[in-house]
Amino acid sequence: MIIGVLNQKGGVGKTTISVNLAASLARNGARVLLIDADPQGSALDWAAARNGDPLFSVVGFPRPSIHKEIGQIGQGYDHIVIDGPPRVTDLARSAIMASDIVLIPVQPSPYDIWAADEVVKLIDEAKVYKENLKSVFVVNRKITNTAIGRDVGEALAAYPILVLTATVTQRVVFAEAATQGKSVYEIDAGGAAAREIEAVKDELMGFL
Ligand SMILES: Nc1ncnc2c1ncn2[C@@H]1O[C@H](COP(=O)(O)OP(=O)(O)O)[C@@H](O)[C@H]1O
Ligand SMILES: [Mg+2]
Repeated sequence: MIIGVLNQKGGVGKTTISVNLAASLARNGARVLLIDADPQGSALDWAAARNGDPLFSVVGFPRPSIHKEIGQIGQGYDHIVIDGPPRVTDLARSAIMASDIVLIPVQPSPYDIWAADEVVKLIDEAKVYKENLKSVFVVNRKITNTAIGRDVGEALAAYPILVLTATVTQRVVFAEAATQGKSVYEIDAGGAAAREIEAVKDELMGFL
């Protein structure tokens, strides 16, 4: 499965979700590749911060030809996660075209909900060429027991894209893990953050 984690908006959690989702897929013994398609190279920085054995392979490929080269780059892997770039449209378009499913992280904020229309447009365009392309929103940095946290799903319903039931809460463990190039599983395997990522993975798997 090729999962593209995309949103033209920066800071929504693309890299955070990409590395932890890749870790979650790799936990069952699958061979997983994380492609860093962001010229800023945050996923590569994450891998560089790590001591010890890698959980999965990470390569940088911030070029608008991912969709053409994914077959070659992804050879021998069971699952591929693409950590998408912010802003750069041609890179995002290529990453979308390379994906089986596009996962769009959005924060529970009106700015994020409005900004999502950019990636939704790109997905619409891509569907002309790739009829079977799937796409879903995932709410990230949800703050428990807030009205905005509850209403975000409703606000996103204005888009013709499903919202995952699984959500990812604002938790400091995500940043703490990243500092050490680790996934939340390695910090707290049975913890709430790991369970949320697991639920996102399971729901995504159900789509394919
Ligand atoms: N669920 C979360 N809980 C706490 N911090 C988060 C969460 N998701 C992302 N962050 C933090 O928000 C910032 C932006 O996240 P990042 O994954 O880099 O976004 P993007 O890749 O979309 O730019 C980072 O500092 C990251 O640690
Ligand atoms: Mg990023």
